[in-house]
Formats: sequence, structure tokens, C-alpha cells
Amino acid sequence: AQMTELAALIGDLQELSRPDTGQHEGRAQIVAWQDVVESALRRVRLRGPELTITADVRPWYVRAEPSALERAMVNVLDNAVKFSPEGGTIEVRLADGALTVRDHGPGIAADELPHVFDRFWRSPTARALPGSGLGLSIVARTVQQAGGTVALTRAENGAGGTTVTIRLPGAPTPPPEVP
Ligand SMILES: Nc1ncnc2c1ncn2[C@@H]1O[C@H](COP(=O)(O)OP(=O)(O)OP(=O)(O)O)[C@@H](O)[C@H]1O
Ligand SMILES: [Mg+2]
Repeated sequence: AQMTELAALIGDLQELSRPDTGQHEGRAQIVAWQDVVESALRRVRLRGPELTITADVRPWYVRAEPSALERAMVNVLDNAVKFSPEGGTIEVRLADGALTVRDHGPGIAADELPHVFDRFWRSPTARALPGSGLGLSIVARTVQQAGGTVALTRAENGAGGTTVTIRLPGAPTPPPEVP
């Protein structure tokens, strides 16, 4: 388990150590976001087999770096799994260019919300769980590079929980091939 954690940490550090300018655009391409979400869901379902994960995923084509987008999706879904109570439910929805991931975990206190995207920041209550606090800072960077936005909110209704909303510019159909 520690090997897996260390490998994840090294991957995250590599991702963050890449320069923030220019070069990324070169690796960006048209990506079927729905496929990336589905493949991240398959990976994350293995980590939380006792959870119920519902998914309503519609096509949305974006311009992004495929591996970075996949990593970002896994990070967000991994948080939802990690903070879910045993037997909990996670609702995933991709529609009209907005992805929402809603869990029914402890939620994030209002005074902690401004810190969630900081590198290495973890809520004091999260320190018993595995992780390094880099996940969401990588998500924020990837989303920003794709021209989108990400926000975490405390779920209003129901028994608390967190909703992550990611919006990326794109279209419901792939753009025509440029000859
Ligand atoms: N779905 C969530 N429910 C409750 N708290 C969350 C949720 N997502 C993130 N957080 C809080 O934000 C902190 C930062 O999240 P982030 O993904 O950056 O780090 P991590 O999950 O702790 O570690 P890593 O992603 O590096 O494995 C978490 O430690 C936790 O305190
Ligand atoms: Mg995380």
C-alpha cells in the first residue's frame, strides 16, 4: 500500500514540476471528455467496490492534454471515494460541458474551502486518510490549462457532502477534421 502511495506521490510531483508555460498547448488535442470520465470511473470503482456510483455522462469534446485530464478526473473521483462513508453513494454527471461529482461524505468547512487547491493542504480531519494534498492543485492546473473552471461547494440538501463542479469549453460534437 505504501509503494502505491509513493508511486502516486512521485507521479503528482512530476506533474507539478512541469513548466507552467507554453509547452502544454503543444500536447493538447481534441479529447472526448465523456470517454475520459468513463475510464476514470472504471479505475475508481475498483477502489470503492462497496460504494454506489451513479453516472450520467453525455458527450462533450474539449481541447486538453489526454493524460493530464485523465489524472485530474481520477483525482476528483478518488477524493469522492476516499471521503465517502461506508456504503455511500456518489453521483457523477457530465452534461453541457459541466461535470459534477457529488459525494455524501463529511463535506468541507466553509473556512477551509479557500485552501483546498493549495499544494499539500489537507484538512486536519483528513490526515488519517492516505494522500499528500496535491490532487486538487493538479486538478486546478489542468482545468485552467484547458480554459475551464473548477469549484468545490458544500452540498446544500441531503446529509451534507461535497460537490465538485468542473466546466470546460467545448462542444457536444467533435469538430470537423482540418484537411
Ligand atoms: N470530496 C471531499 N470531501 C471532503 N473533503 C475533501 C474532498 N475533496 C477534498 N477534500 C479536502 O481537501 C483536501 C485536499 O484534497 P487533495 O485531493 O488536494 O488532497 P488529498 O486527497 O488529501 O491527497 P492526494 O490527492 O494527493 O492523494 C483533502 O485532504 C480534504 O481535506
Ligand atoms: Mg485527492
